[in-house]
Amino acid sequence: MPPIEQAAPAPGQAQAPSPAAADSPRQTGPCVMVIFGATGDLTARKLMPALYNLAKSNLLSREFAIVGVGRNDYTTDQFREVISQKLQSFATSALDNDLRDWLLRRIYYVGGMFDDPAMYTRLATALTEADKTHNTHGNYFFYLATSPVFFGDITDRLGAAELVCEKDGHWRRIIYEKPFGSDLESAKALNRQVRKVLTENQIFRIDHYLGKETVQNILVFRFGNGIFEPIWNRRYIDHIQIMVTETVGVEQRGGYFDMAGTLRDMVPNHLLQLLSLTTMEPPISFSSDAVHDEQSKILHAIQPLGGEDVLHNAVRGQYGEGTISGEHAPGYRAEQGVPADSRTETFVALKLMIDNWRWAGVPFYIRTGKRLAARHTEIAIQFKRAPLVLFRDTPVSDLKPNELIMNIAPDEGISLTFGAKVPGAQMRVGSVQMDFNYTDYFGSSPSTGYEVLLYDAVMGDQTLFQRADMVEAGWSVVSPILDVWKALPPRMFPNYASGSWGPKEADEIITRDDRAWRRIKG
Ligand code: BG6
Repeated sequence: MPPIEQAAPAPGQAQAPSPAAADSPRQTGPCVMVIFGATGDLTARKLMPALYNLAKSNLLSREFAIVGVGRNDYTTDQFREVISQKLQSFATSALDNDLRDWLLRRIYYVGGMFDDPAMYTRLATALTEADKTHNTHGNYFFYLATSPVFFGDITDRLGAAELVCEKDGHWRRIIYEKPFGSDLESAKALNRQVRKVLTENQIFRIDHYLGKETVQNILVFRFGNGIFEPIWNRRYIDHIQIMVTETVGVEQRGGYFDMAGTLRDMVPNHLLQLLSLTTMEPPISFSSDAVHDEQSKILHAIQPLGGEDVLHNAVRGQYGEGTISGEHAPGYRAEQGVPADSRTETFVALKLMIDNWRWAGVPFYIRTGKRLAARHTEIAIQFKRAPLVLFRDTPVSDLKPNELIMNIAPDEGISLTFGAKVPGAQMRVGSVQMDFNYTDYFGSSPSTGYEVLLYDAVMGDQTLFQRADMVEAGWSVVSPILDVWKALPPRMFPNYASGSWGPKEADEIITRDDRAWRRIKG
């Protein structure tokens, strides 16, 4: 992560400092990025536009090359042409032709099956040539944008081909897309497997939520300000809600998604990242290990849900057909690649507790799902009510508790609600809101969210990546739920209509505690 610095443009005035400004992060060193799964969606939609943005911001070394590896039978020229077209569609701003051509000139392609030793020989040759042509000093990082079933085998084969051993002063790294494992046991097994070939500082387990400015801002908000941390605990906070709701369905990913389900797809990674950043203790520094130590501690402190708890505190759902934004949406079972009798969940709500001094007794309500009424990602911190109500014209029930909302998407910012006097002769209290919006203050610079992650990977900074123990701790939270759900298959699927807020059982998880989900405009 680039170092945290003070920057204070006035609202509506100066924009955020441009990446090329003198105090900006420095350019990466020379290297080759090898993308496994180079003809897939992630490469086209995120990785290539992110590399283009880094080059545009002058953050990418001129001594840089890309080798795409895929199962299609392209030549390098054909692959460049494909990438050129995809960039046209997915670049986050208008393309500069010179810069695009600069990037295309350093792209190469190696076709073949991931389990074919001959492909690794061809890859080694392509890397040697790229090294010579672009002076990349033997530094390589491999981005595995493939199905996770290939992660272990590709790592072994890269090891066997001696492409990941670090010697003669160069570095070699592998970035693993999520999901890293499909439960606790498989994540542990994969960790063991990759660590036979690599050391932990060569392993970058990605979670794209950590590339979001607003997610990184959780740490700055908490630890860059003096006034919030003293009230950030069970004495002042009543409960926390974390929601990631989507209006999209499974799109083209029915095959993968039906094997995974929302619990695996979203909770051990994205949702628990948001939870851990919101609840961790202050790290002793912003070094990667110091931050990971605190995240890991908090993940280990989440109370595991045992058999009975799962029945009470975990709710699953699957969408049926319905209407979203006035359009008819098909049910999950009618999606491409999904069996007509699928029992895979597309919605999850959980109530979690954290067993430590700071959070004892504070419930965390988590909700995530597809085809819901609105796309919205937020962390809502609800504070306790004032201890004594002095205003006799306002019934206690009308006094709203203070709420601090961290908006992650689609709005990006923070808002605080508090009570204010309603103008008039009576002493009445109304609820008002103070808003900070990223775009108002810093302007917006469109990005994919992958820029900072790729940049950090080349710089060798692992702060925004997950360490082995964090991944395993995330799965430890989720695995007992997976076990119970597997033993008790759902009987009432589909149980929510597309365009709704999920199954009614999800409401019970929170109304049982005399609380309610925050209402978001659909
Ligand atoms: C991905 C999941 O990791 O995150 C998807 O696999 C999900 O199912 C996506 O749609 C959500 O990401 P974002 O950035 O749109 O909130």
